[in-house]
Amino acid sequence: MRDRIEELLNEIETFTASNLQHVEEFRIKLLSKKGKVKELFEEFKTVAPELRKEVGIKLNELQNKAQEKINHLKEKYEQADPSKDKKIDLTLPAENIAVGSRHPLSLVRNQIVEIFSRIGFTVSDGPEIEDDWHNFTALNTPADHPARDMQDTFYISENPDTVLRTQTSSVQVHIMEGTAPPIRTISPGRVYRNEAISARAHCQFHQVEGLYIDKKVSFADLKQTLLYFSKEMFGEETKIRLRPSYFPFTEISAEMDISCPFCKGDGCNICKGAGWVEILGCGMVDPAVLENCKIDSTQYSGFAFGMGIERIAMLKYQVKDLRLFFENDVRFLKQFKSVI
Ligand code: DAH
Repeated sequence: MRDRIEELLNEIETFTASNLQHVEEFRIKLLSKKGKVKELFEEFKTVAPELRKEVGIKLNELQNKAQEKINHLKEKYEQADPSKDKKIDLTLPAENIAVGSRHPLSLVRNQIVEIFSRIGFTVSDGPEIEDDWHNFTALNTPADHPARDMQDTFYISENPDTVLRTQTSSVQVHIMEGTAPPIRTISPGRVYRNEAISARAHCQFHQVEGLYIDKKVSFADLKQTLLYFSKEMFGEETKIRLRPSYFPFTEISAEMDISCPFCKGDGCNICKGAGWVEILGCGMVDPAVLENCKIDSTQYSGFAFGMGIERIAMLKYQVKDLRLFFENDVRFLKQFKSVI
């Protein structure tokens, strides 16, 4: 047995291989279950006790040498293997990583926030589940007021005093109740109305409310602020037009149109030939609303405005169906790329 061990040690010493295949054959010959080294280990059981120690050491040495030689040769040929080089071909183009994009409503909201921040407006928000006071009564719309019909409200059945807010104007009340003027803030957020869902209406949408309260705030301030916003949002050549309107919480009230950003006022199918498109409601905060919020209306005045984010996004990106904003179809969403 000792001679056979010596013989195998020699064989290992002198073995050379020319490729990985040879190395593998050699491994099978020696170290597989039926290999020569394993065979010797089997035979070891029959070795006389006085020789066991010496033969055992030799046998272990044989097994280690075989393993070392095989490892060494494997490493050598694996490095030289051309198919292995291919796996780490650094010149191959990298796989595409799909990068998400911002939702178009977020893009438009962020742009609105950015424009008003530049002229000193802060950003504030309020709850979407609101009480009657903040959504209606404090805004000069008591329970029997016909203007409540303008907005189809979702009431919480267990508590009719609680509603899903129908307008971000409710945030005005929170702000005025909690902050002493001067106040200059915008409040973007989601609102809810009990409307049948169609291409032009939805039961949820988004608004941005604006509020400016200080001493001697005038309608001219409102007009100039909205002109600045419109030019920044839709382009320098944009014109605005204010039409008399009615809202319970403003006196005087107006609706604002911008000159159609597509035909520049000539008339096209987007503005339905009018040359103008409506984008928001606004007015001077009704003194009764100031008083409801404990602001002295003999000292302070202010303006407010409210616009629909979907409306602006539809105009800006020429989206014809409001429902697309809520379906989250990636094919729709990935068309809107911007850094803001
Ligand atoms: N809250 C109104 C709406 O949802 C929009 C609005 C109009 C807000 C005039 C205002 C405003 O602050 O002054 O239709």
